[in-house]
Amino acid sequence: MHPSANRVYAEASLALTVAELAVLARTRLEGRIGEATPTWIAGVPYLAFEADPDDGDLALLGDVSTAMALFERSSGAMLPVELPRRDRFDDDLLTILKYQGKTNEVFTKLLLNLTVWSGTEIPGRPLKVLDPMCGRGTTLNQVLMNGWHAFGLDLDERDFDSYAVFLRGWLTAKRLKHSVEVTPVRRDGAKLGRRLHAEVGATKEEWKAGDAITVDYVNADTLHTRAVHKPRSVDAVVTDAPYGVQHGSRSGGRLARSPLDLLREAVPVWAEVLRPGGAMGIAWNTHVADRDDALAVLADAGLEPLDDGPYRGFLHRVDQAIQRDGLLARKPG
Ligand SMILES: C[S@@+](CC[C@H](N)C(=O)[O-])C[C@H]1O[C@@H](n2cnc3c(N)ncnc32)[C@H](O)[C@@H]1O
Repeated sequence: MHPSANRVYAEASLALTVAELAVLARTRLEGRIGEATPTWIAGVPYLAFEADPDDGDLALLGDVSTAMALFERSSGAMLPVELPRRDRFDDDLLTILKYQGKTNEVFTKLLLNLTVWSGTEIPGRPLKVLDPMCGRGTTLNQVLMNGWHAFGLDLDERDFDSYAVFLRGWLTAKRLKHSVEVTPVRRDGAKLGRRLHAEVGATKEEWKAGDAITVDYVNADTLHTRAVHKPRSVDAVVTDAPYGVQHGSRSGGRLARSPLDLLREAVPVWAEVLRPGGAMGIAWNTHVADRDDALAVLADAGLEPLDDGPYRGFLHRVDQAIQRDGLLARKPG
C-alpha cells in the first residue's frame, strides 16, 4: 500500500482497500482474486490475497486507489511483479491544488473506481464521467489522469474560477497541446452560468490524430444538469456531496437546503444523464442523514442500490463532524 494512504485515512486505509479489492473481485475480476488480508512483513503493511492474474487483471490491480507495488510470494521470497499504470499525466495534476474542503485524492480515486467497476463495461473508448458537484475538480483531475473525459458542475463561482486558473496554468506549464475556453451558458434566453471547455492532448500524436481528452465544467446549480448534458450521455456519475458542515456551506443561500433534500432533487436529474448499465457513486456524511435514507433516495430515482457484502465496507471517520460513507447504485439496463 502507498504510504501516503496511511497518513490520510489513518486506521481506515487498510480496511477500505480490503473492501475496494472485494468490489473489484466481484465485478471485473469475477472471483479471480481471493479475499485480501492485512499482513505486516518486516514492519511494512501489505494486503495479501490469492490470485493468478493475467495482464488485464494486473491492469485492474494497478488501478486500486492505494496500490504502490505488487509482489508474488513464493516460498518466503517476494518477487516484484510490474503493475501496469493507467496514469496519462504527471501526478502533480492531483496534488498541486490544496484547499479547505478538498476531497482527499486517494478517496476520490477509490470512489471513482467503485463506481466505474459497478457499471457494465464499455470497451474500446474512453469513459465519460460526470461529477455534478465537482468543487475545484478533484474528480475531474483523476478522470483526466485516467485518460477519460471529465464533466462537472458546481454553483460556487470561486471554485469554478480557481479550477479554470489551475487547469490553464498546469496545461501550459506541462507544455501539453490543448485548447481552453470559457463561454456563457444560456437557456431560454437567460444566463445559466459559465462553461469551461478544454481539450487536452495526452501526447502530440494523439492531439494530431484528433484524440483529445475533454474537460468540461459548468458553473451552475446541479439541478440544471439536464440543460447542459443529454439523457444517457455519461458512463458514471461520481460526487462528494456537501457534508452539511462549515466548508460545505460557503456558497451561501442555496446551500441552506439540507444535503438530503438536495439529493432528493438532484439524483433523479443525474440518473437521467446516466446511461443504462452505468453506475452512480456518492460520498456521504452519515452524520447528516443515515445510509438507509440516502439509499432510499437512489432507489426512488429508479436506480438499484448496491448494498450488500463489500459495498457496506466504506464507512470511515474523516473528522469529528464527518463520518463518511460511499453510496453506490446502478442504473438498470
Ligand atoms: C464536498 S464539496 C466537493 C469537493 C470536491 N470534490 C473537491 O475536491 O473540490 C461539495 C460541493 O457541492 C457543491 N454544491 C452544493 N450544492 C450545490 C448545488 N445545488 N449545485 C451545484 N453544486 C453544489 C459545493 O459548492 C461544493 O463544492
